Amino acid sequence: MMIPIKSAREISLMRRAGEITAAARALAGKMVTPGVTTREIDQAVYRFIKSKGAVPSFLHYNGYPASVCISVNDEVIHGIPGSRRLREGDIVSIDVGAYIDGFHGDCADTFPCGHVSEEAKRLIAVTRQSFYEGIAYAKPGNRLFDISHGVQTYVEKHGYSVVRDYVGHGVGANMHEAPEVPNFGPAGRGVRLIPGMTLAVEPMVNAGAHLVRRLRDGWTVVTKDGSLSAHYENTILITEGEAEILTRLPSGE
Ligand code: MF3
Ligand code: CO
Repeated sequence: MMIPIKSAREISLMRRAGEITAAARALAGKMVTPGVTTREIDQAVYRFIKSKGAVPSFLHYNGYPASVCISVNDEVIHGIPGSRRLREGDIVSIDVGAYIDGFHGDCADTFPCGHVSEEAKRLIAVTRQSFYEGIAYAKPGNRLFDISHGVQTYVEKHGYSVVRDYVGHGVGANMHEAPEVPNFGPAGRGVRLIPGMTLAVEPMVNAGAHLVRRLRDGWTVVTKDGSLSAHYENTILITEGEAEILTRLPSGE
């Protein structure tokens, strides 16, 4: 599959989509408090994205019924918002996409609900840092799996495992484009990275084993061993130098 290389004009449109998506993630994260329902978060994000003149990328994607994915504790990804009330001690992964002027942003983060265990805090921190360890390799001259290897090495060094069955992806005019971006793999392999590539790099990290299964709702992915899982994702741009994070607020958040 051909990897789309974005023009300067397309990149500025993706910055705009990315900023709205990052703002939606921040808004959702602030709502993660004991007693809130996941549906309330979904509805607030829907309204926010629409108020910016954008469209929630996930809504109706392959029949997906909501604007965000909210995955709690042992849920890895693709949790469907509903009547569930968040509780003190939960860890809550929120994944969101926004589409505007022909381009998507895609990002995720895992938020603690009130006070969480030290182990949960460490899992969240390692997952987030694994993204930065990976994108340290996201520059011209390197190859795609250098990113993957950077994520995997850091995660496993900390005694956690990376999910294998779901991967990151190119993102742009389509939410999922070439290439697939695994969070595991051999350094020095994969396509060469070229300025203008835009990628969703998204480590999904389990405290226990890497194996996952999908629930009967057809969407929610959970760890097979019931261990906690965290997710962190940004849309990045390959530049001549360091990768630029497109799903970022002007404040840098
Ligand atoms: N960010 C998710 C991904 O990269 C998209 C969620 S799929 C949806 O796969 F169907 F839930 F929208
Ligand atoms: Co994604």
